[in-house]
Amino acid sequence: MVARDPHRFANELDDTAIERIISRLESRARDEVFSRLFDKYVSYLEAVPGGKVLEVGCGTGATSRRLLRRPAFSGKVTGVDHSPAFIEAARHFVAQEGTAGRATFVVGDAHDLQFADHTFDAVFAHTLISHVTDPRPVLREMARVTKPGGVVAVFDGDYSSLTYGHADSGLGRTMDVALATASFNNPRIMRDLPRLLPELGLELKMAWGDAVAEIGQASYFRSFAETYVPFVEKAGLLPEGTAREWLAVQHKLMDDGTFFACCNYFTYIMGPK
Ligand SMILES: C[S@@+](CC[C@H](N)C(=O)[O-])C[C@H]1O[C@@H](n2cnc3c(N)ncnc32)[C@H](O)[C@@H]1O
Repeated sequence: MVARDPHRFANELDDTAIERIISRLESRARDEVFSRLFDKYVSYLEAVPGGKVLEVGCGTGATSRRLLRRPAFSGKVTGVDHSPAFIEAARHFVAQEGTAGRATFVVGDAHDLQFADHTFDAVFAHTLISHVTDPRPVLREMARVTKPGGVVAVFDGDYSSLTYGHADSGLGRTMDVALATASFNNPRIMRDLPRLLPELGLELKMAWGDAVAEIGQASYFRSFAETYVPFVEKAGLLPEGTAREWLAVQHKLMDDGTFFACCNYFTYIMGPK
């Protein structure tokens, strides 16, 4: 068995896995600590004149809907994702919120976007780039469809920094690596970006990092572990039962109030060259 990033291979998941990811994306969007990281860069998307915004890898549209709910944003959002199941969910959720008139969700591949050059005022990818087959063409495509003077924003985790506390530090470290390997095709992309940008038609304007940490209780990292442990098991990265036992330990730590987990996230604000 080999690790297969479930988002990269979203179109090969069974219905149970699809439902698990839909529910993870929606619960993550309700997590205030994590959502505040989008709010830290959303002003760059709101500020562009024209208000025509594209989200690449929109999933269920949770982040696009957060933008649509912002009083300062009166523009329109297009979301593109390669999973027809996620796009169907995105259309359903945006209709429920009553903002469907300002949103279009379409199926498409981030490596080969179906939009003409210079279509959007701002283009963003919120936790997409760590999952794609190859970040380079995706970033080139994001630059291509952005208008001159527009904004390209990329937000993602540096999943090589993902860590959960565990009394057995060797097993803890092994499981940290297994979780990152099973869930992310490009766990180190955010530390690689500065070296890649010059050849991708993008100019860096600003970048910053944030640590997401939960100590004592867990919500964001509870859902993270519950969603991705089955993919660690499926990938056969560890001896049978190890990941499940690790998850049971994490639940106990959460119940006891002695839990610890942390991961670094980075935001890059760029423009097409
Ligand atoms: C972690 S989810 C993020 C979803 C959304 N941006 C959010 O913030 O809720 C990653 C998304 O990228 C999508 N994805 C992965 N590879 C893709 C590709 N090549 N083209 C389009 N979408 C892709 C997956 O289907 C999934 O919906």
